[in-house]
Amino acid sequence: MTPRRVVLLTAVLSAAAFVLPETAAVASAPHGTPGSVGSGDPYFPRQGNGGYDVSHYRLAVHYVPGTKRLSGVAHVTARATMTLSRFDLDLRGNLHVSSVRVNGHRAAYRQPKKLVQELVITPRHALRAGRRFHVTVHYAGTARPVTDPDGSLDGFIPTDDGAFVASEPQGAPTWYPVNDTPRDKATYAVSITVPKGLTAVSNGALTGRHAHGRLVTWSWALHQRVSSYLVTATLGRFAVSRGRTSSGVPYLTAVDPREAAAKPVLKQLPAIVDYFSKVYGRYPFGQAGAIVDHAHKVGYALETATRPLFDRAPDVATLSHELAHQWYGDDVTVAKWRDIWLNEGFAEFSSWLYTEHTGGQTTAQHLATLLANPASDSDEWLPPPGNPGSGKGIFADSVYDRGAGTLAALRQLVGDRTFFAIMRGWLPAHRYGNATVGQFTAFAQRVAHRNLTHFFYEWLYKNGKPTG
Ligand code: TRP
Ligand code: ZN
Repeated sequence: MTPRRVVLLTAVLSAAAFVLPETAAVASAPHGTPGSVGSGDPYFPRQGNGGYDVSHYRLAVHYVPGTKRLSGVAHVTARATMTLSRFDLDLRGNLHVSSVRVNGHRAAYRQPKKLVQELVITPRHALRAGRRFHVTVHYAGTARPVTDPDGSLDGFIPTDDGAFVASEPQGAPTWYPVNDTPRDKATYAVSITVPKGLTAVSNGALTGRHAHGRLVTWSWALHQRVSSYLVTATLGRFAVSRGRTSSGVPYLTAVDPREAAAKPVLKQLPAIVDYFSKVYGRYPFGQAGAIVDHAHKVGYALETATRPLFDRAPDVATLSHELAHQWYGDDVTVAKWRDIWLNEGFAEFSSWLYTEHTGGQTTAQHLATLLANPASDSDEWLPPPGNPGSGKGIFADSVYDRGAGTLAALRQLVGDRTFFAIMRGWLPAHRYGNATVGQFTAFAQRVAHRNLTHFFYEWLYKNGKPTG
C-alpha cells in the first residue's frame, strides 16, 4: 500500500466515522474524483459546483413566520458529467442537514463552516459519468438572508407577515440545496407549507392548495428550465387574482393588501406581456403574473421566472422592466455575472421602449437625456456595463442606464429593421440557455453586416463616457 493510498483510506474512514454509523462507505473502494467547489465565476467563486448537471428540483418547504423556522425536503435529479466520488450542493450553514440520500442510500455529508455554503456529499457508491442520480436532503434552521457585496439583502428575507424570497445573485442556498450557478438550469416543483390565512407563491402554474389542520400547502410547477436565482417562495398575506392576456397567456397576481397602489399599474400587465411578445417574439413561459409584497427594506424588485417580485407597488417602468426580463434574463440568461448587461441593459431599454410605445419619451429622447450627463458624472458612466469588475458592480446604475443607452444607440446606428432583427434573433439562438456579452456583440455584427467593434468598445467597455 502506497502512502498516498493510506491517506485516502484515512479520509474515507474519518468521514464515515463522524457522519455515518454504518461502515458501508469503507467497504467500497474510493473511485472517481470529487466534484469541484464552485463553478468558476470569478465574482462569486463558491457559487455552483462541478461534476454534475441538475434537471429538476422538487422542493417541499415549511415556514413558521413567528419563529422564523424554515425546514425542507429537497429532491434533486441530476446527471453526473464525470465519475464522482463526492460532490457539493450549495446550502448555507444556518440550515442544518439531518439526512442525505443518494439513489435511496444514506450518504455521508459535511457542512464545513469555512466553506460557508457547501454541503459536501459522499455517496456510498461513486456516481458514474453520464448517469442520472437522485439526491434527497432533509434540512432545517432559522431563516437568514445573505448580504450582497453591494450591501443589499438577498435570499430568504423574513418580513412582518412572511418572507420575501429573491435570490439574485446568491440567495438560493439560503432556502434550498442547489447547484447555484446561472448555467445549471432546471425545472421546478415547489410546495410551501404556511399557517392558514397566508398565501405562498412560487413560479409557474398553481397545481394545488391543500389545507390540513392549521396549515395550508401551496404547490407550484414550472415546466421550462430556469436558473436557480429566478425561483421564489414568497409568502404572506396576499390577494390573488387571475386572468388571461389578449394573446392567451394565463396570469396570476398576488398583491399585499397594503400595496393597493399596485392595482392600476397591474392593469397594464397583460398589455405589456402582449406588446413584448409582438416585438421580441413569443412569451417564453406558460404563465405570467406578478407578486407585490410590502417589504420596503428590500429596496429592489426581481424578475422571478413567470411572476416578477416587487418589494412595493411598482410604477409602470419597473413593471415593464421586470416583465421584459422574462425574455432577456430568464429565457436567455447570463453565463457569468460579468455578463449582467445582457439582463439589465436589455430590461431597462425595454422599459424605455414600452414608454415610447405608450406615447411617452422615445428611446432616442432617453438616450439624449443620458448623454447630457457630463463625463465627470461617474455614477452614470462607471463601471462600464460590459465589464462591471466585481460582484459589487453588477447592479450599478451604469449597468442599467449606460446599458440601456447602448441599445438605444445601436438602434439609431443600424436602424429599426436591423435592430429588431438582432433583438428577436438573439432569443431563439439561446432559448432556455445562457450567453455572454461577447456572443451578443458578435451576433449583432453578423446580423448588421458591419464591424461594430469600435461602437461596442465605446459603449460597453470604455472606462468612462462613450463618445457618440
Ligand atoms: N435584477 C433586479 C432588477 O431587475 C435587481 C436586483 C436583483 C438587485 N438582486 C439585487 C439589485 C440585489 C440590487 C441588489 O433590477
Ligand atoms: Zn433588472
